[in-house]
Amino acid sequence: METPAKKTAVATPNIALIKYWGRRNIEINLPFNSSLSMTLDYSLSTETTVTFSKMITSHRITLDGKTIALDRGDEKLQKMKVVIDEMLRIGGYSEDFKADIYSRNSFPGGVGIASSASGGAALVCAANESLDLDLSKKDLSIMARKISGSACRSVLGGIVKWKRGSRKDGSDSYSVMVFGPDYWEELTDLIAVVSEDKKDIPSSEGHDITSSTSPLFKLRPSLAEDSIGKAIHSIRAKDFDSLGEIVMKESNNMHAAMMDSWPPIMYLNDSSRHIMKMIADLNEAEGRIVAAYTFDAGPNPHILTLSKHASKVERELRDSRSIKRILKSGVGIGPKILEIT
Ligand code: PMV
Repeated sequence: METPAKKTAVATPNIALIKYWGRRNIEINLPFNSSLSMTLDYSLSTETTVTFSKMITSHRITLDGKTIALDRGDEKLQKMKVVIDEMLRIGGYSEDFKADIYSRNSFPGGVGIASSASGGAALVCAANESLDLDLSKKDLSIMARKISGSACRSVLGGIVKWKRGSRKDGSDSYSVMVFGPDYWEELTDLIAVVSEDKKDIPSSEGHDITSSTSPLFKLRPSLAEDSIGKAIHSIRAKDFDSLGEIVMKESNNMHAAMMDSWPPIMYLNDSSRHIMKMIADLNEAEGRIVAAYTFDAGPNPHILTLSKHASKVERELRDSRSIKRILKSGVGIGPKILEIT
């Protein structure tokens, strides 16, 4: 068996339009409900290089300059270890091979801009190339899901649905592309960074606190499935008015269930709420929805809009002193392998 080659993959975050929150299986990240997202373009990305070597004694990752052994890391790093071992097994490689992972984000991590999604997707794509496994998108999505749920959507470009599945082993819980990246090219995501602090509660803990304590959470699975159907309908019709309303209501609902958890989880701060009001006022003044906010597990809003409205929305946002900077992304095409010679 040949020594695996050094390979580099680039993947991008995704913004959930209908959110994944709560896991029916913690070990392999099986969700209570399906979710729907837009993959972002290469203006925000994670670049990951994997080298397999028998010269090191454990899998390790260097992230933004800091090196840590995966088996000494948090839940997501431990899960990376399990996935790397599984990929080595699939390829028939000796377990003496250890992964040396080098990963770099082009955006701040831990602030609700899903670095674990782009990181998980980039890692499975780079390892797949390095070990020459030739896994399908479905299998890559399942591997990425086992690292971080939302990562399974970043394996694909365009508008992506992660099907919750019903099998216990998770073999039917993976992502599919619903609309290609070209279908509605005008869709734009403006990320207004109000805080770059690390969040107090990592999403891995938040999922389980909410699903096990929030009475409101019980409504989410059926509501989310229903909202996915409606959102797909709106996207198909390129109806931003209705999509925007669905997206804002969904974000509000997830954050209400977080707040309803015990102890309560509050990812939004005063700046987040100020921006929600600002977007509501802008839509009111326009007489239709031109911008829609949505928040993941952090205070930084993703403002969904159309390219024709982007500069107006950006101008409004820049007036707010709480916004440190604005990142802008269109619909992305999904991961790519870098040919480095
Ligand atoms: O993949 P995780 O465990 O980081 O969970 C992400 C959860 C949200 O970002 C809040 C929603 C989502 O669907 O991406």
